[in-house]
Amino acid sequence: MQVFHTAAELRAALGGEAGTAFVPTMGNLHAGHVSLIELAKRHGQPVVASIFVNPLQFGAGEDFERYPRTLQADCEKLAAAGCDLVFAPDVAEMYPVPQTFTVQPPGSLANDLCGAFRTGHFSGVATVVLKLFNLVQPRVAVFGKKDFQQLRVIQELVRQFNLPIDIVAGDTLREADGLAMSSRNAYLGATERIQAAQLQRELAAIAAAVQAGERDFEVLAATAARHLKMAGWRIDYVELRDAATLQPPTPDSTRLVVLGAGWLGNTRLIDNLELANPFE
Ligand code: PAF
Repeated sequence: MQVFHTAAELRAALGGEAGTAFVPTMGNLHAGHVSLIELAKRHGQPVVASIFVNPLQFGAGEDFERYPRTLQADCEKLAAAGCDLVFAPDVAEMYPVPQTFTVQPPGSLANDLCGAFRTGHFSGVATVVLKLFNLVQPRVAVFGKKDFQQLRVIQELVRQFNLPIDIVAGDTLREADGLAMSSRNAYLGATERIQAAQLQRELAAIAAAVQAGERDFEVLAATAARHLKMAGWRIDYVELRDAATLQPPTPDSTRLVVLGAGWLGNTRLIDNLELANPFE
């Protein structure tokens, strides 16, 4: 596996590679990321991963500084997973001039849910992903469903800018108790780690109730939020949404997603569950 830190090296190595499958990451990789590499391998070659903690997508007071940087260990995991090439630029390489030109995703996708609590986050994500796409020029790019809103923003970025890239969505990997794998799980203390699995349980309870015919979505979400607060969570939101528009469900919605985000101590966690054809 080759590791490059500059755009020039990356371009020289990738020149002429037509079938590149790309997995953008911020590093501190876990089994969920490894599953995305394995998925990428089924869709193209070479497989390129990027490792870049993107300052543009962190707000003031968020965890940009403390986000774990573990390049050596990450490269070992990527090599073992069969990744061919790693692009690990520093901030100066990624942003050689101030990034005054930014991508503004549609407000209907990006200003609600996490976007309501992390102003500018999805603009930062879309901007760096567009830059990474231009540098790597993949045919396929793989994103995890764990960041469901991010996935929808990227799918729309590709659609509206006619980027010749297929976006492949990877399923969320979970710990034995159901907690979605996340680099931020490492921040959790022992008690918080136990509390953390409740988010997934509450989302699953909403999904089960909807599948069973319950249609009072607001009551379901409020009940889940109340349970989580009782279990020590500070909740940003629990919402049931149309999985395509991320807006509240309508009678025309065919796929739903229940999403939640909240805090345990200083750690913000997110999760979601998709519901197949709830109105059939
Ligand atoms: O999901 C992430 O790790 C990041 O948001 C991404 C897509 C690598 C952009 O920085």
